Amino acid sequence: MSFQTVSQAKARLNRCELAVPGSSPKFFEKAAKSEADIIFLDLEDAVAPDQKAQARANIVQALHDVDWGSKSMAVRINGLDTHYMYRDVVDVVEQAGDKLDLIMIPKAGTAADIYAVDMLLTQIETAKGFTKRIGLEAIIETALGMQNIEQIAAASPRLESLHFGVADYAASTRARTVNIGGPNPDYGVLSDPDGDGNRQFYWGDMWHYAINRMVIAARANGLRPIDGPFGDFSDPEGYKAQARRAAILGCEGKWAIHPSQIALANEVFAPSADEVAKARAILKAMEDAQAAGQGAVALDGKLIDNASIKQARVIVDQAEAIGM
Ligand code: GLV
Ligand code: MG
Repeated sequence: MSFQTVSQAKARLNRCELAVPGSSPKFFEKAAKSEADIIFLDLEDAVAPDQKAQARANIVQALHDVDWGSKSMAVRINGLDTHYMYRDVVDVVEQAGDKLDLIMIPKAGTAADIYAVDMLLTQIETAKGFTKRIGLEAIIETALGMQNIEQIAAASPRLESLHFGVADYAASTRARTVNIGGPNPDYGVLSDPDGDGNRQFYWGDMWHYAINRMVIAARANGLRPIDGPFGDFSDPEGYKAQARRAAILGCEGKWAIHPSQIALANEVFAPSADEVAKARAILKAMEDAQAAGQGAVALDGKLIDNASIKQARVIVDQAEAIGM
């Protein structure tokens, strides 16, 4: 291990993060009864400019009046380049900050963006005498944000998670796609597995680098990496395939932009019963090995050692948090 230790952000279930426009209060009750772990009430891109003030008022009222159960509640504020952002923070936090767990910062571009929101929040919390500190979620969705991701991830002890905003990221990098997430049929390789000149085209994952880079920056700073939206809500298999790729790389959850995606995220981001049983068997075998003075042993014909304990703990901790 390095001499530098990584402190972990506040633990919070984050398998499914449901996006709900702040301008559509008709969706709030249904969202509150859903199985999403976190709900973000949106003030940004799902809200038209002339609806911003009303959306703020809706959110303040709903944070007080709706029974959100054990969900973590977040609000996505507008970008720091808009004139809406300061009032998003001031109005929502002054009037309902004690009901809020997280503020989501869109289009985070530099560490100073996080610092600015942290400063504003700190002043409001102190002035209002709030004792619970509101956490931060940063969306990485611009080329600038991806370039500065390491500094962003280390910018504030309030930060809990990094999110990959695939739609804005595609626009910012001028990627040739109009899909929100998922693979693009033009991004692939021609291969000739049999060497017989009969070439086949295989799709690749154009988001692999971005998501993997976000996972590394997040985990190196004790944050949760979360995959963002998948726009085609009539394609559950496509959603699950994207979610599985993110989960395999280390993401802890994914957004739902439609209620039908909640169960899909909860399924993919929970370990299977088999995985949990195998992880528990590894912990038991290593406990026995260590009691017998051994550092490594064989389990089911495979070597396991100290690193296996850490891998297995990731799965067992996750299962315990979900209540499996
Ligand atoms: C999310 O905000 C995105 O742009 O994908
Ligand atoms: Mg976006």
